[in-house]
Amino acid sequence: MAKIKTQYSCQNCGFNTSKWLGRCPACEAWNTLVEERADAAEVSSRRAMRDPGGLRPDWVLLEGTESVSAPQKRLATGIGELDRVLGGGLVPDSFVLLGGEPGIGKSTLLLQMVQGLLSKNENLKILYASGEESIDQIRGRAHRLGVKGLDRAYLAAETQLEGVFATVKEIKPDVLLMDSLQTFASSELESAPGSVGQVREITARLMNLAKSEGISVWLVGHVTKEGSIAGPKAVEHMVDTVLYFETESGQSYRLLRAVKNRFGSSRELGVFEMDGEGLREVSNPSSLFLSDRKEAVSGTAISATLEGSRPLLVELQALVASTALAVPRRTSVGMDSARIALIAAILEKHMKLPLAEEDLFFNVAGGLRLTEPACDLAAAAAIWSSFEEKPLPTGWVLIGEVGLTGEVRRVSQADIRIEEARKLGFSTIVIPRSAYERAQAQLGKNASSIKLLPLSTISELPDLLKLK
Ligand code: TYD
Ligand code: MG
Repeated sequence: MAKIKTQYSCQNCGFNTSKWLGRCPACEAWNTLVEERADAAEVSSRRAMRDPGGLRPDWVLLEGTESVSAPQKRLATGIGELDRVLGGGLVPDSFVLLGGEPGIGKSTLLLQMVQGLLSKNENLKILYASGEESIDQIRGRAHRLGVKGLDRAYLAAETQLEGVFATVKEIKPDVLLMDSLQTFASSELESAPGSVGQVREITARLMNLAKSEGISVWLVGHVTKEGSIAGPKAVEHMVDTVLYFETESGQSYRLLRAVKNRFGSSRELGVFEMDGEGLREVSNPSSLFLSDRKEAVSGTAISATLEGSRPLLVELQALVASTALAVPRRTSVGMDSARIALIAAILEKHMKLPLAEEDLFFNVAGGLRLTEPACDLAAAAAIWSSFEEKPLPTGWVLIGEVGLTGEVRRVSQADIRIEEARKLGFSTIVIPRSAYERAQAQLGKNASSIKLLPLSTISELPDLLKLK
């Protein structure tokens, strides 16, 4: 096939050259030159102006109320957690990027999805194109996973994009799975598979395929350490939906997170566990992040965080120990260290805790990463509890943001968090005073099964704990 003309363009300053160089002569940045089609921008704009391709000008007034498109029909994937992360199932012509470190379970998830999709959707055809594994390997894995009844699933071991396109033309699948981004190459570019130029070209062509043929395309991308292989980050902006599969080392659970979604919320979280039979859905993830301990110990507090629309109860742990260092240590895993240092400073100022002479270690149990200020209050309580060596009562959950003046501030969607804690059998929830009345009213007939305690400032916390 004829090679198209390419050029190397500096991602930093836009300088173009016909040869690859290690260093951009214009801005002197290293390793910023990336291969691109020389004519891409020119060709497409020229083509669009000369021949709009039968397109008529198409616009409506922003203010109009008429319905312009039928609501998107969605396909059930047969995996509840996956449907949730996609925003209620798979949109037929959507382009999904599934990122994650090698070995985390991306191919396993795709295979399980194949079975789910086929069993939920009659007449659906799926093409699984793999540039990584041989047909025998994939068949073997499907067999181990107990994936059955796949008469409408087609397999192709292929590394050339054009080869995949030919197969698509023949089979006409409704869903195309591409595993993985870094192993495919277009023969129109000279650069190696996995280079930025290749991964961009592949993604652009697949996006075009998804939209023009109404095929749902899934593209697996390995997250790579810095190097010559481009990761999914390089193409995130080009796709409809970006999902990342993550875990903490040594843990068997897997978190599937939407970081971008044109068809739903982008903060949704799905939780799976990897065992001998593949990925299993975890329908009650709070159980993963709470310890089974029954007796109260000092230095821990429970909070309720929100991941998308999903409430999760998490245990926060603090260890305060006197230091021999001039500058005490502030170490945090699972929550931003700067935030923990801030909370420690607030405790020093407003609760007179002499933390300046103490090292502080902080951890979120189960390896979850918290970004929400709603967990501030529980973090403060855990630190206070460790310092005082007084356990918080069991069955308590604390929700609230802590401000610099020590005030406990309202959090979003307190009702969802409270309901989750109630369902899991917690007895008492400490919430910001400003949210109290509304939350109490929202409890309705459940008011007898849980107690809400309002808190205005962090300094009231010790008094509140004596209340029990
Ligand atoms: P895989 O889906 O191949 O990962 P990726 O495509 O993201 O690179 O998952 C591979 C890992 O999952 C492998 O280390 C073995 C493990 N695994 C199980 O623990 N149980 C199973 O049933 C399967 C299929 C894999
Ligand atoms: Mg794989």
